[in-house]
Amino acid sequence: MVTTWANERDLHLDLAAPGGVRAALEAALRDAVRTGRLAPGLLLPPSRTLAADLGVARNTVADAYGQLVAEGWLVARQGSGTRVADRAPAVEAAVAPGAEAAPPRYDLRPGSPDVAAFPRTAWLACARRALATAPSEAFGYGDPRGRPELRAALAGYLARARGVRATPDRIVVCSGFVQGIGLLCQALLTRGARTLATEAYGVSAHRDVVAASGLAMRPLPVDAGGADVGLVGDAGGVLLTPAHQFPLGAALAPARRTAAVEWAADTGGVVIEDDYDGEFRYDRQPVAAMQALAPEQVVYAGTASKSLAPGLRLAWLVLPGALLDPVVDAKRRADAQTGTLDQLTLAEFITSAGYDRQIRRRRLAYRRRRDRLLAALPGVRVTGIAAGLHAVLSLPRDLTEAAAVARGASHGLALDGLDNYAAAPGQHAPALVVGYGTPPDHAYTSALARLAAVLAPTRY
Ligand SMILES: Cc1ncc(COP(=O)(O)O)c(C=O)c1O
Repeated sequence: MVTTWANERDLHLDLAAPGGVRAALEAALRDAVRTGRLAPGLLLPPSRTLAADLGVARNTVADAYGQLVAEGWLVARQGSGTRVADRAPAVEAAVAPGAEAAPPRYDLRPGSPDVAAFPRTAWLACARRALATAPSEAFGYGDPRGRPELRAALAGYLARARGVRATPDRIVVCSGFVQGIGLLCQALLTRGARTLATEAYGVSAHRDVVAASGLAMRPLPVDAGGADVGLVGDAGGVLLTPAHQFPLGAALAPARRTAAVEWAADTGGVVIEDDYDGEFRYDRQPVAAMQALAPEQVVYAGTASKSLAPGLRLAWLVLPGALLDPVVDAKRRADAQTGTLDQLTLAEFITSAGYDRQIRRRRLAYRRRRDRLLAALPGVRVTGIAAGLHAVLSLPRDLTEAAAVARGASHGLALDGLDNYAAAPGQHAPALVVGYGTPPDHAYTSALARLAAVLAPTRY
């Protein structure tokens, strides 16, 4: 039965339990609080209202409320009605020792920028402008490639800032690179590909998407010059992070860039360039995108997940002509199109120079954070620091990755071992992959102090 009370919220209570109406009502309320369906602090309907909606006597409801107050599930205060208790018995049980561990205080796993630095004011201004000026057709179904305003803005930005050879018609806006790689796998399969070569270290979620598509994977060893593209062989494509190998941090050596595009030209294979953090380079000019070497062989993939926020779920593919139709078909099948309002806002953000401004500011801030990380860990070997928002920290000889992660947890830190990113575990000396994009500025000093304590043992 669904009932609505003064503040117009529906309350579903199933009174089918045996033992009479009052027992059934008590059981239904208890269950709703225990499972969290009725949130702590929620104001319940007055007993008269609930009784009328349920078709039971008012006293039945009042008695049921009284019983649950006595048990600690509800609280009743004169004049302010009956509410769900802030710390109901079940909530206390859930955090009791042996149940769920407390969440870590500071998250130093890689993957996220400082989301507290999201440019809310500028974004809001762009959203207002975009909404006010959007044509009505923008609210309907549209081109699966995405809004023309955004594709035009991206083509200009990518050419200028990343050296990409892009035209708006070759761009497909997608819901994160994680969707983009899935679309590309579909497109490769339609071209008869059976295997995708991938770097032996990477994002496991991306490997999951590739595996789910049915493509086999061929891991390429990674060294100081990036992935060994000489081993791509008869794969139909190769997925690379050329500007900043994820997570080890090397830039793909110039000879390997050339070798990869030559392989693609010779075999009809496709290079997928995942440029996830290419804007954040600290030691010199950003490494230009390799797509410019061979726009008909290389897919350029960019994302707003590092430059702005992963929650936006906005990414883009710049495609060779031969892949455009199969990718657009896959996008249409996947979700018809990415949400248009955020696309229009991002277009406005780019054309009004807000995007460049944000990147320049964040680049400076992340560089400072990186320098503070290095300063906080004297004696620790830190690599992959020329770019991006994460670094690889070698562990002391007597500390395994699992032990370091556990020690981190006991210091309130969420940490990740390098093994989490390896296609096959145990192929490297123990190391941590530490993200310095998070936590927010006010918490960074404490997080670093704790990290230094975790790595305090000296036997390197
Ligand atoms: C290597 C790599 N590629 C791409 C991405 C971006 O993925 P998405 O656009 O789905 O958020 C990330 C984000 O963490 C990443 O680490």
